[in-house]
Amino acid sequence: MKISKNMQKALNNQITLEANASNSYMAMASWCEVTGYDGGASFFYAQSDEERKHMLKFIHYLNNLGISAVISATKSSASNFKSLESILKTALMNEQTVTTAIHKMVEISQKDKDHSTYAFLEWFVNEQVQEETKFETLIQKFELIGRDKIAINEIDKTLAAIATTFTTDATA
Ligand code: FEO
Repeated sequence: MKISKNMQKALNNQITLEANASNSYMAMASWCEVTGYDGGASFFYAQSDEERKHMLKFIHYLNNLGISAVISATKSSASNFKSLESILKTALMNEQTVTTAIHKMVEISQKDKDHSTYAFLEWFVNEQVQEETKFETLIQKFELIGRDKIAINEIDKTLAAIATTFTTDATA
């Protein structure tokens, strides 16, 4: 099965985007770990692993079509952050960027009548809805609970609880 050059380029770009997301979440996890936000650290290390799995899905999809996936250099991530709230806001912006890229690929697949890639992307369309909702809900907690030490500790505990729900299935 053939896919267009335009589609190949977009899928390869997505590999880099997912790798950047994985790096960025790892940097956030590391900052949480050293700052004492144990829940945030567990959450963002797990989130980083998720992004790596997303990256692998794109790599395998291209390789299974006989098109060599391109593994590009990744952006270096910030190592210092202002607050738990600020990293969650940055994470939401990351996810919104990824959602835009996924939607653009869906449009390319529709234009190309590339039903295979369209079907492959469906999982990511749904995933992005969940990802954005997850970060929006977490950010909203600062408005609901507050920003004092006790409130932040509660939010950190919420992040710890969410971290335990991440799938361990390497294919998910
Ligand atoms: Fe793979 Fe969270 O975007």
